[in-house]
Amino acid sequence: MAKTETKNINISFEVYKAESDMDANDQLLLSKAKEIAKNAYAPYSNFKVGAALILDNGTIVTGSNQENAAYPSGTCAERTAVFYASAQHPHNKIKAIAVITDNTKQLNPVTPCGSCRQALAEYEIKFREPIRVIMGSASGKVFVAKNIESLLPLMFNHDHLE
Ligand code: THU
Repeated sequence: MAKTETKNINISFEVYKAESDMDANDQLLLSKAKEIAKNAYAPYSNFKVGAALILDNGTIVTGSNQENAAYPSGTCAERTAVFYASAQHPHNKIKAIAVITDNTKQLNPVTPCGSCRQALAEYEIKFREPIRVIMGSASGKVFVAKNIESLLPLMFNHDHLE
């Protein structure tokens, strides 16, 4: 008998050709993300990103990327938003997050980086509630994932503490 087995992980997400094809709540969250992208401090990359998340009480928290001369000291829009949300509203579940850039050259949706996926996953696990991810672009094309876990298979987690 073989000593190994191969496991497959399938991820799925929705693709919208236009923002107007989406659910109205997702459209609203994406528009808030687009608006806050203007506040990004991105003198090094010139790539301004905005993120907007909605809590279970309806509060919308926004954030933008904040860069630094010492590059790794800066942070992405998603982490600005999620850490602020948790700092201000530690007991409210995060239902969804939208992310987008105002950079018109970005025709494909902005997808959260690995560090942001890990940071967001922490709250999905903490609240045992999926966080919907709405990823927008200048072309109007949008990806929607139903949770963070699907975007970060085999994520690190202290499951020995659960
Ligand atoms: N960035 C974000 O803020 N979110 C993403 O999902 C992708 C990348 C930022 C990091 C950096 O300030 C700039 O975009 C270029 O990578």
